[in-house]
Amino acid sequence: MMPMEENSDEAPASYFIGKKKDIIKAKRVSKFMNGRDVLVLYHEGKFYAMDAHCYHAGGQLENGDIEEFNYKLCIVCPSHKYKITLAEGEGLDSALDPKEKNPVPLWFSKGIKQRVHTVLEVEGDIFIKMSEVQGWIESDYYQKEQQRQERQKC
Ligand code: FES
Repeated sequence: MMPMEENSDEAPASYFIGKKKDIIKAKRVSKFMNGRDVLVLYHEGKFYAMDAHCYHAGGQLENGDIEEFNYKLCIVCPSHKYKITLAEGEGLDSALDPKEKNPVPLWFSKGIKQRVHTVLEVEGDIFIKMSEVQGWIESDYYQKEQQRQERQKC
């Protein structure tokens, strides 16, 4: 199936992001599409896409570092350092065992917090298929029109 152009009447739609070579060069691209701000990332040979604003308090994930925690690649939100897995949108946190003499962080999942989207590559072009996961995911809050207007005031 060929990805559809933006504003197509058919669903689910795919949205053109750009040329693969250009996104690889840029490494990060943010776009507003279908009522959402979406961040597309290229890291170590793979593409990822997720809501662009952090589920915690709307931080700009585009400016976050990518690091591995608990064997999972994460983007680290620049605002308060929350860790979000690139592939699943899972929030990761860690705790230290106070009884250990030399404690090492014990990682745990906080569940899916950030909505992730599917990246499609067709003949050198990159498209996003928007998430169809039903129900509330915390990053949805920062995609509301009211939140968008608040950000524009800053
Ligand atoms: Fe992202 Fe707080 S806004 S960690």
